[in-house]
Amino acid sequence: MALKERISVHGYGQRTSRTRMVICIALICVLAVGLGTLSVYTVLTLGDQRRLVAEQAAALSDTQSRLEQAQSDLAQKQAELEEKQKEWEQSRAAASSDIAAKDDTIKEQEKTIKELKKTIKDLKKQVAQKPSKEESQTSTTKPVSKPAESEVSAYKEQKIVALTFDDGPGPYTAALLDILKERKVPATFFVLGTRVSAYPELIKRMKAEGHEIGNHSNSHKDLRAMSTVAQIKTEMDLCADKVKTLVGHRPTVMRCPYGNWDDQVVQYAKGEQVPIIQWDIDTRDWESRNVNAILNTTLNSKGLGDGSIILLHDIHKTSVDAIPKLLDRLTAQGYTFVTVTELLQARCGLEAGKIYYEG
Ligand code: NI
Repeated sequence: MALKERISVHGYGQRTSRTRMVICIALICVLAVGLGTLSVYTVLTLGDQRRLVAEQAAALSDTQSRLEQAQSDLAQKQAELEEKQKEWEQSRAAASSDIAAKDDTIKEQEKTIKELKKTIKDLKKQVAQKPSKEESQTSTTKPVSKPAESEVSAYKEQKIVALTFDDGPGPYTAALLDILKERKVPATFFVLGTRVSAYPELIKRMKAEGHEIGNHSNSHKDLRAMSTVAQIKTEMDLCADKVKTLVGHRPTVMRCPYGNWDDQVVQYAKGEQVPIIQWDIDTRDWESRNVNAILNTTLNSKGLGDGSIILLHDIHKTSVDAIPKLLDRLTAQGYTFVTVTELLQARCGLEAGKIYYEG
């Protein structure tokens, strides 16, 4: 029995060892398979990563080469831009020199025009001064007044201008007289007889406040259109007599309506011992009826200077409105205001029948 049990125990021990061996072998096999799988996986993964790295390196290289290309394009564009800028600067310089040359030409032409205007003016004066055959036989020119030595010296160092107002008095003349009084500026009013009748008090006021009153005819008729000297005299006397009634004397200067004169007008003026006053600065106030336009036209006028006679009309509100600024600007430019007679006495003297455009 003991032997059987030993055999039996021994048999059981042999089976157990075999089972353990099988399990060990199985475990080894499993381990081997696992390691193999892991190796394969590792190899595969590494391969993928290498490929990925290679792809990224290729992409990086590609990007770098594109960047270099872009840099080179940029450099080329910059060079082109610089080239264009140079060309533009050259063309601009050429254009400026062209403009400067044209400016010079314009200036020269303006100078020529100015000289021509001056020549025309001088010629007009010569024509005006030349007595006609008939007149030289029938009348002699007498000077109305010569410049007094004291008057010449009074304005010798000053630039003088005469403001002249035509066609009044009118509704705005009183306001104008207020301005002139406040600023102590004398002016010359070439009045119409019809207006003198309508505003007698203003004529008296003009005289009382030191202004000069000139004859501009009775009803602004064109004296050049009249057929005889007698007709001219009738038209002019109507105004002169009305003025005399109010201020005690006839006007000693005259201005033709529209500035129109001829030999007969000159003959009349000589007979009446009055000079004919024109103007060299036309403000065109009757045309623009605008304060700024009046200022600009007057102040930018090339003829404006010492001895200028400025034409205005006190029958327009805008003309009167322009006066304060006009006085300011002319005063700032060093001008002194005088009447027409004062201006001509100080610069050249007055002569009956002579046409004056400036002093
Ligand atoms: Ni007039």
